[in-house]
Amino acid sequence: MDLLSIDSLNDAQIGTILDRADFHLAANRSGGSSNALAGKLVFNLFYENSTRTLMSFSTAAHRLGGSVVTLPVEQSSVKKGETLEDTARTLNAMRPDVVVIRHRENGAPQRVAEIMDSPVINAGDGTDEHPTQALLDAATMRSRFGSFEGLTVAICGDIRHSRVAHSNAMLLPRLGAKVRLGGPPMLMPDDLLAPHSVDEAIEGADVVMMLRVQRERLAEDLGDAPGEYLARYGLTAERLAKAKPNALVMHPGPMNRGVEIDGAIADDPHRSLITLQVEYGVAVRMACLELVLA
Ligand code: CP
Repeated sequence: MDLLSIDSLNDAQIGTILDRADFHLAANRSGGSSNALAGKLVFNLFYENSTRTLMSFSTAAHRLGGSVVTLPVEQSSVKKGETLEDTARTLNAMRPDVVVIRHRENGAPQRVAEIMDSPVINAGDGTDEHPTQALLDAATMRSRFGSFEGLTVAICGDIRHSRVAHSNAMLLPRLGAKVRLGGPPMLMPDDLLAPHSVDEAIEGADVVMMLRVQRERLAEDLGDAPGEYLARYGLTAERLAKAKPNALVMHPGPMNRGVEIDGAIADDPHRSLITLQVEYGVAVRMACLELVLA
């Protein structure tokens, strides 16, 4: 099976991924090992930059006893004009067992999946989806709250360009949480039915998830002065005080400290789940590799 979007997973598969992620996280912490992917070959195709997703898929495959080959896109024949489809046909002939792809174009993982004989996992496509990020976010929340019932999650920032917000807005309500999307008016999608300001979204929330302004996807710069975004839309101590007492803070990374989030909040060991998100990133991707190869 392919893992291209949250909708490509049924409820039982989502439950299995979250449960297996808890198992793998505990095993990783205690130095356990697995050979579930022994003899299996994972291809990483990252056409957009990545630290967390690329490294955690590689680490996940290694921890399951598999092998990883990463296409160095900048040195590849993409630079000579090869199409995505021709690259996919070429790589398919090398017989990988799983392909993990990140691409700047919405729908690129689907186009590759139509060619590959192996399962394909979407590691983020344009502004569309980032399903494994949403799964690791859910696993992180569940580890702290136990369940999603009654949970209000504020997702704030550049919603317009965020595949993370999109996948989380699909996944979290399925699990029982309420999602509020908030951000600057110019960074909210035109078709959103109930947009919030950042302050409205955060009011009384259990979790505040902040998102980076994706300036690389903006047609025009915001033209904001230094410190202006943080003051008007970012997560400051004053704004976090509007959430529930002891509300927890998340960020998928990479962060722009002092822009969408005050660095002191990101580093607060009592409130910030950011490092735990990264740890669950490996565990969830181990569970996803197992699932697509099952
Ligand atoms: N959260 C996330 O996708 O981070 P990277 O871009 O570093 O992979």
